[in-house]
Amino acid sequence: MRFSGRTALVTGAASGIGRATALRLASEGARVIAADRDAEGLRETLTLEAGDMRAAHYDATDLDSCRALVANAAADGLDILCNIAGLLDWGPTLDFDEARFERLIAINLTSVFGLCRAALPHLIERGGNIVNMASTAGVQGTPYSIGYAASKHGVVGLTKSLAVEFAARGVRINAVCPGHVDTPMTRRPPPEGEVDWALMMRNAPKLADGICTPEDVAEMVAFLASDQARKVTGALFTVDGGQLAG
Ligand SMILES: NC(=O)c1ccc[n+]([C@@H]2O[C@H](COP(=O)([O-])OP(=O)(O)OC[C@H]3O[C@@H](n4cnc5c(N)ncnc54)[C@H](O)[C@@H]3O)[C@@H](O)[C@H]2O)c1
Repeated sequence: MRFSGRTALVTGAASGIGRATALRLASEGARVIAADRDAEGLRETLTLEAGDMRAAHYDATDLDSCRALVANAAADGLDILCNIAGLLDWGPTLDFDEARFERLIAINLTSVFGLCRAALPHLIERGGNIVNMASTAGVQGTPYSIGYAASKHGVVGLTKSLAVEFAARGVRINAVCPGHVDTPMTRRPPPEGEVDWALMMRNAPKLADGICTPEDVAEMVAFLASDQARKVTGALFTVDGGQLAG
């Protein structure tokens, strides 16, 4: 019960890694605010956990909505912010227009900035921490994923920069970089257009069973959010079955 008495705001909690993280933190005693734009998915998440969890609806493309989410979640204090909501959109770069690029930046990066900025005063009060969901695409060049990779590199830069700025005020900020995780995001059919699959798959997982489950990633988020990681800040942890190992 590492999170007894703690309040955690988890975005992306209607599906995949966000849902697994919300369930994991609640099962270890956290009071969880499970946030997403998908009300139906949130309802399903709540049916899976008997712990202290409530749903909150917000839209990551709307910064007022992000601020309101944090204000409500932190009404009685906030200890943990897990920024997990995200969008994957990819395809050959020459067919990838600016609107698609900007949507990825808005959802995967600008909203994370907005949520961190709103949450930091509350986290400073309680010595809290933030776990951001980056990606292996946040630390290596990823073909056909120009907007997604740019947004996740942005999450990495934001994580390290906030960690340095807020360390002296007792707030830790870390990021997880998953590789291929089996979630609805990765089950969608590939985009149209010509894709060099050998180039795409050059960093396949090295472990025999290297594709991760959402729970594999939630395990790392829970560690980073817990006091066990009290000396860890500004760090990136891959959970990728060895994709980036070489
Ligand atoms: N699945 C993977 O292989 C993988 C790998 C690396 C990183 N990630 C990252 O992990 C995070 C979770 O991904 P997942 O695989 O669980 O995907 P998912 O599609 O299962 O879940 C993403 C969640 O984000 C929510 N979301 C999307 N746009 C939103 C918006 N505008 N406002 C509010 N919520 C919104 C969705 O409703 C959904 O519940 C994402 O940030 C993703 O980039 C995933």
